[in-house]
Amino acid sequence: MRRPESIAGECSVLDGIAQVRSVSRFDRRLGLGVGFGAIVAAAVVFALWRPRAAADLNDARRIEAGALVYARHCASCHGDNLQGQPDWTKRLANGRMPAPPHDDSGHTWHHPSAILFGITKKGLKPPYAPPDYQSDMPAFGPVLSDDDIWNALAFIRSRWSAAVRAKHDALERQ
Ligand code: HEC
Repeated sequence: MRRPESIAGECSVLDGIAQVRSVSRFDRRLGLGVGFGAIVAAAVVFALWRPRAAADLNDARRIEAGALVYARHCASCHGDNLQGQPDWTKRLANGRMPAPPHDDSGHTWHHPSAILFGITKKGLKPPYAPPDYQSDMPAFGPVLSDDDIWNALAFIRSRWSAAVRAKHDALERQ
């Protein structure tokens, strides 16, 4: 006599299971969608980020173009021959530092390329210097494209000795 009721009960349990199953199928699809989205987002971020952080500084065209950028925008302070200003390790009367050499004798090669890029683009401001730091190094962001800056850095790098380039490569891999 109670049978129809219990069947109804079973049915509703089955309905419940069916519902749970379809929800979990939906969840899986959602999960896959989110997972796939994350992979696409990561690929986009990687594609956008990679050329900036890993511009090929050995590229002959970059070096050639960079020689012009350097002559026009850097040589007046850092020297035609990358020799820097005289007595570059001693403060000027105004308390600021002179422009250092960019050749082997300077400090430039002690920094990874991403830092050199940042200093050239943003100037010696945080995070590259303390907030109140006073410097004659201009920020080239408003003047030069990212490519121009990488080209100038490729040119500077091309003027280092093989030994210094090897040390810089090792630094870059750290
Ligand atoms: C108006 C002068 C001036 C010009 C032009 C100039 N710089 Fe500088 N640069 C400086 C001075 C001065 C410093 C040292 C700043 C300090 O320590 O306060 C410096 C420092 C730097 C540093 C940091 C070096 C290190 O060892 O920490 C980099 C990199 C640099 N310049 C790149 C460039 C590049 C590339 C250009 C051309 C696109 C350029 N600079 C043009 C004056 C100049």
